[in-house]
Amino acid sequence: SGTGVGFACKHAVLTFNFQQSAAMSTLLINEPKYAWLKELGLSEDNDGVYNGTWGGKGEVITSYCPANNEPIARVRQATMAEYEETVQKCREAWKVWADIPAPKRGEIVRQIGDALRKKIKVLGSLVSLEMGKIYVEGVGEVQEYVDVCDYAVGLSRMIGGPVLPSERPGHALIEMWNPVGLVGIITAFNFPVAVYGWNNAIALICGNVCLWKGAPTTPLTSVAVTKIVAEVLEQNNLPGAICSMTCGGADIGTAMSKDERVDLVSFTGSTHVGKMVAMTVQERFGRNLLELGGNNAIIGKDDADLSLVVPSAVFASVGTAGQRCTTTRRLMLHESVHDVVVERVAKAYKQVRIGDPWDPSTLYGPLHTQQAVDQYLAAINQAKQQGGTVVCGGKVMDRPGNYVEPTIITGLPHDAPIVHTETFVPILYVLKFKTEEEAFAWNNEVKQGLSSSIFTKDMGRVFRWLGPKGSDCGIVNVNIPTSGAEIGGAFGGEKHTGGGRESGSDSWKQYMRRSTCTINYSKDLPLAQGIKFE
Ligand code: UN1
Repeated sequence: SGTGVGFACKHAVLTFNFQQSAAMSTLLINEPKYAWLKELGLSEDNDGVYNGTWGGKGEVITSYCPANNEPIARVRQATMAEYEETVQKCREAWKVWADIPAPKRGEIVRQIGDALRKKIKVLGSLVSLEMGKIYVEGVGEVQEYVDVCDYAVGLSRMIGGPVLPSERPGHALIEMWNPVGLVGIITAFNFPVAVYGWNNAIALICGNVCLWKGAPTTPLTSVAVTKIVAEVLEQNNLPGAICSMTCGGADIGTAMSKDERVDLVSFTGSTHVGKMVAMTVQERFGRNLLELGGNNAIIGKDDADLSLVVPSAVFASVGTAGQRCTTTRRLMLHESVHDVVVERVAKAYKQVRIGDPWDPSTLYGPLHTQQAVDQYLAAINQAKQQGGTVVCGGKVMDRPGNYVEPTIITGLPHDAPIVHTETFVPILYVLKFKTEEEAFAWNNEVKQGLSSSIFTKDMGRVFRWLGPKGSDCGIVNVNIPTSGAEIGGAFGGEKHTGGGRESGSDSWKQYMRRSTCTINYSKDLPLAQGIKFE
C-alpha cells in the first residue's frame, strides 16, 4: 500500500505541473495582442489584496474572457486572516483620513479622477476583455468614475447641514455631518468600475475609508483600478488602506456583512443575495446601501414619437447584452402602435453588429458567463410555456464564447411569472395595453422598482407619470431609455431594488451620520416646549 500512495502522490504532482505549464502558456496576457494589459500593472499572477501593501494568500482564481472563454490571467484572493488584517489597517487609516479637511480630501479625489483619465482607454479595454461589454461601454463606465470624481471634488466644498431657528433664546440649532467610518463596497460583474467609483469617490470626500470586494469573475479589473487609486494615495504619503481591496467570494462578503467594524455595507447585485446581506447587516444595526434587481419598462403611448421609441428600446434592451440593472425588460405598447413598433424593433435587432466586444464596430458582445447562457435558455423555455411567441432571436450562437441572440418575445400576459422575473440576459417581453391606467399599473405591479420610461407628447400624462399615481420607480424617465443614467442624479430604486441611492444629488448623506446639535451660548437654561423644572 506504501507503493500505492507513493505512486498516487507522484501522479498528482505530475498532473499539477502539467496543468500549470499548460495554463501559463495559454494565458491571454502572454500574447502580444494583449500586451497592453501590462500597462495596467497586471501580470500572469496578481495580488488580490491591497491594504497599503499588496498580498493574497488565498485561493488562486483564473479570470476568463467571455468572448472566447480563454484564461486572461490569475488573481490570488484574500484569506480570512488577510481580511482581518485589512479591516484593522482600514480602521487605522481612518484616523488619518478623517482629520484631513474635506476640500483637501477632494483634492485627492481630483487626482484619482486625473489618474483614471490617463488610463481610460486601457482600463476600458480591460473591462471589455474581462466583463465582455463592448469597448465604448467599457470606456463609458470608467468615464462614470471620472465624472463622479469631478462631482465629488465640488461636493467636498459643499456638504453641510442647515442652521435652524432655535425656539430658545441664546441657543443655536445646527446639523453636523460626520463620516460613518469604514464603507464596505461589494460590487457586481456588470459594472466592475463605475459602481465602485460612485461609492468610492463620494465616500472618500465624506471622510470614510473604503474596503472593496469586486465580483469574483472580474478580479483583474478590481486589481487594475486599485493600482491606479493606490498610486495616488502613496504619492500623497497617505495610508494606502484608505482604499483597500480584498478579492474573494461569498466568504469575504459574509464577513463584511457580519463585521461591526464595517459601518456601512454598500451592496450591488441580485435581490436574493442583497436580502441576505441586508438581514445580516440589520441584525447588528449596521447600515445598508442596496442596489438590487430591476424589471424596467418602457411605455410607448399612441402619441409617442416612434423615431425615439425604437432606438431607445433597442439601446436599452440589447445594450450591454441585457446585463444592466437598468436594462429594458418589458416594452409596453399601446395597441395602436404595438405591431408597427415590434416590426421596427425586430428589424433593428437583426442589424445589430455582433462580434468581439473590443472591436470598435461591435454593438453586441457575449454574456458574461456560461451560467447566464443557461439562464437565457431556461427563460425562453418558460416564456414559451407561459404563452409567449419568439419573434426574434431565441438561440445560442454557434461561435466561441457565451454568445446568445438578442431576443424579443410577444404575446405574454402582463403578469406571467417570467415577465415578473428579472433574468439578466437580453430578452425583451413586449406587452400590449389599452389605457394609461393599465400601463401605469403594469409598470408598478412587479416587485422591482428601479427604472421606467414613458414615451408621449402629452404634458398631462407626463406629470401624471411623475406624480403619486405614476411610476413607483427610483428612476422615472420621459422620452429617453431606462438605462444610461447620468451620475449627477441619485441612482437607485424602490421595493425589491433595495431603496438605496448612490452617486449624485444628496446621495452623500448615505455615507455620513447626522448629529442634531443644540448649543446654549446664554447664561440661562430655558427648556424646550416651555417646560419649567424648578
Ligand atoms: C448597473 O447596471 O448596475 O444607468 C448600473 C445606467 C448606468 C449604470 C447602471 N449608468 O445604465
